[in-house]
Amino acid sequence: MSHRYNFALIGCGAVAAMHAKAINGLDKGELFGVYDSRKESAEKFAEKHGCKVFTTIEELLGCMDVHIVDICTPSGLHAEYAIQAANAGKHVVVEKPLAITQAQLDGVVQAAEKNHTQVAVITQLRFTPSVMKAKKAIDEGRLGKILMADFKGKFYRSKEYYTKSGWRGTWAMDGGGAMMNQGIHGIDIIQYLMGGVKSVQALCRTQMHDIETEDSAYVLVEYKNGAIGALHSTTAAMPGYPREIEINGTKGTIKLEEDEIKCWDVEGEKENIGKTDCNVASDPMAFSHAYHQLQLTELLDALDQERAPIVDVYEGKKPVEIILAAYESSKTGKRIELK
Ligand SMILES: NC(=O)c1ccc[n+]([C@@H]2O[C@H](COP(=O)([O-])OP(=O)(O)OC[C@H]3O[C@@H](n4cnc5c(N)ncnc54)[C@H](O)[C@@H]3O)[C@@H](O)[C@H]2O)c1
Repeated sequence: MSHRYNFALIGCGAVAAMHAKAINGLDKGELFGVYDSRKESAEKFAEKHGCKVFTTIEELLGCMDVHIVDICTPSGLHAEYAIQAANAGKHVVVEKPLAITQAQLDGVVQAAEKNHTQVAVITQLRFTPSVMKAKKAIDEGRLGKILMADFKGKFYRSKEYYTKSGWRGTWAMDGGGAMMNQGIHGIDIIQYLMGGVKSVQALCRTQMHDIETEDSAYVLVEYKNGAIGALHSTTAAMPGYPREIEINGTKGTIKLEEDEIKCWDVEGEKENIGKTDCNVASDPMAFSHAYHQLQLTELLDALDQERAPIVDVYEGKKPVEIILAAYESSKTGKRIELK
């Protein structure tokens, strides 16, 4: 059966504007209300997007008209709000990363299981046609045996990007740096395409920016399918370059750049090479809300069909666990096996 769903959004900052556009473009959903710890931010946002302002989190969570809580706060607050929302019986959408520590990840999983609510984690790149095509080709064996898979996120972020926010580049609120904030999209895509990561060995450094967390990281990866690869995440590669993913198999190579296919050299196949208007190389918000909207559409279909969304709490924790293992590896100098 098809229902209509009201969303309440927490945290009215940069990415929330994408969410509001995506939600208000849904056939079965709309933005009902917002909350921000800065009341004036919530009021401005609500006026622009035509919805209600909640003045406390308790009011938002207690509102029977709210079906889905959408969390767009700094990353260190995701778990706390997701647990509160699940305990209030709400379904949850949470921006990446799902949470920033293993204890927080476990806490969200427990709350979702206990309350039988869904927690969908934003990983909008999984909903791009190029990633879907690559996943299908790999799973059907059209690339042969996969040998190598690399992700390169050689981005640049300005000094102001960090200083103005007050939370980016801090362990407490960002949970990490170039990997936990920017690289996580590419890390998620590559672990998804390859069917999981077995072990990591990492070097993390803070080389350019005056931040607590890493601005550059190299991770050597052994995938569960036996392939090997390297994950590069940085916000210190002047002037910033588009995200790249490359998969090499015994029957060919696929290269993705941002949300497009850059090269499809697969035995016996031809594929159109796309041009993208998405490029987060140096501007974190230079992408369309279209893939957020596709992901939210899939969530509403999942709720109607009483099933889990594609990127549920278990899928959402995978890239975070890889990143946490990489931090441990860099700290200890050891190769870390994923559990
Ligand atoms: N999917 C993507 O491509 C993408 C892109 C950008 C950001 N993000 C994620 O979205 C989240 C937010 O990032 P942003 O760039 O929008 O940040 P931002 O700083 O622009 O916005 C954060 C908002 O949260 C509010 N806030 C802070 N503390 C709060 C609290 N205790 N309760 C309620 N509201 C609070 C702030 O006032 C601000 O309005 C981050 O987790 C980030 O990783 C994802």
